[in-house]
Amino acid sequence: MKYQRPVGGRVAAVVAGILAISGQHLLTPLSLLHWHNVFQHLYYLPIVYAGLTFGWRGGVAAAVLAGLSNAPHNFLSIGAMPGYAIDQILDVPLFCAAGILTGVLAERGRKQRADLERTTARLTEVYQKLQDNFERMKRAERLFALGQLSAGLAHELRNPLASIAGAAGILQRDLRLEHRDAECLGIITKECQRLNGLLTHFLDFARPRAPKYQTTDLRVVIDSVVELTTHAAGEKAIRLRPEISPQLAPVACDPELLTQVLLNLIINAIQATPDGGEVLVSAGPRNDRLLIQVRDEGWGIAAADRDRIFDPFFTTKENGTGLGLSVAHQIVEQHGGMLTAAENSGKGMTFSVSLPLRHERPHEA
Ligand SMILES: Nc1ncnc2c1ncn2[C@@H]1O[C@H](COP(=O)(O)OP(=O)(O)OP(=O)(O)O)[C@@H](O)[C@H]1O
Ligand SMILES: [Mg+2]
Repeated sequence: MKYQRPVGGRVAAVVAGILAISGQHLLTPLSLLHWHNVFQHLYYLPIVYAGLTFGWRGGVAAAVLAGLSNAPHNFLSIGAMPGYAIDQILDVPLFCAAGILTGVLAERGRKQRADLERTTARLTEVYQKLQDNFERMKRAERLFALGQLSAGLAHELRNPLASIAGAAGILQRDLRLEHRDAECLGIITKECQRLNGLLTHFLDFARPRAPKYQTTDLRVVIDSVVELTTHAAGEKAIRLRPEISPQLAPVACDPELLTQVLLNLIINAIQATPDGGEVLVSAGPRNDRLLIQVRDEGWGIAAADRDRIFDPFFTTKENGTGLGLSVAHQIVEQHGGMLTAAENSGKGMTFSVSLPLRHERPHEA
């Protein structure tokens, strides 16, 4: 950074310079007129310096000080050399003009420099942002390529997996197996099912299909999901209670995709709720939107995890894939809606799906 002398020091330098020149005027005999001429012109130095340093006000102040401090010399010489003294007095407006001019020019220069510095800072910031975006784009491109690759791999894994599960099924059916072998085949079948579920979820997430809109009665969708999950709820003696508003009109949506969303939410709710609890599934219009809610009496979600539950592969379950909520979130967004989670005032969580109340299928791009 450039060194700048303190303000007090710069004021003192200007004042000292002017007083020294006025002192020379007083001490030098009038007969040495050429020296007085030199002193008179020397006043411009501190005046211009004051204008450059303190702006036009500083320039004027220095010019006035020069005029005042030279007044005793003018007073003493006006009797002997009136022309000379008047010349010197008339110099004062010229001093003021010089002070103002240098001050104004210096201020303009300073302002231009500040503008330039601001523009440079802004340009640097924009350049940095551009650089960051470029980096992010490169990363996104790499991730996209990786996503395509893993989706292709996942797809290819399904065929051999189906063959393994099929072969295990044939062995289980056709052979009279010993207890231990039958147990091993059971494990193979179960793990194949689990892997198949994981691959299905992953493919749903990696290659989401566009919604196929049709006018849908949500009662039918909710009833079918409740039926599909009754078995899982029954195993824990959990009561599944649908509560559907009589004002619920048919809406345009993809019933298959919405079934997938509700299945994920209700299964999560059942898994979180302790034995004998209740899971409430409600649906109805709310403020020009359609609101579907799944409310459980479970253990809730720790504050630290709440921001991450919609991230792919985030799970706190031993056998979870962590893709259920991210798939659901993606489907709801495709429908132009929102999926949110909120803690209940008592215990458990409520997951809310809010959809635009479309009665006709939207124009697809
Ligand atoms: N109703 C809920 N109550 C408490 N925690 C929940 C609830 N729903 C989701 N979570 C938390 O969010 C995490 C992510 O849920 P998500 O459905 O995406 O995956 P998952 O259930 O763990 O696995 P998957 O759905 O593939 O079986 C869960 O592991 C759980 O910690
Ligand atoms: Mg889940």
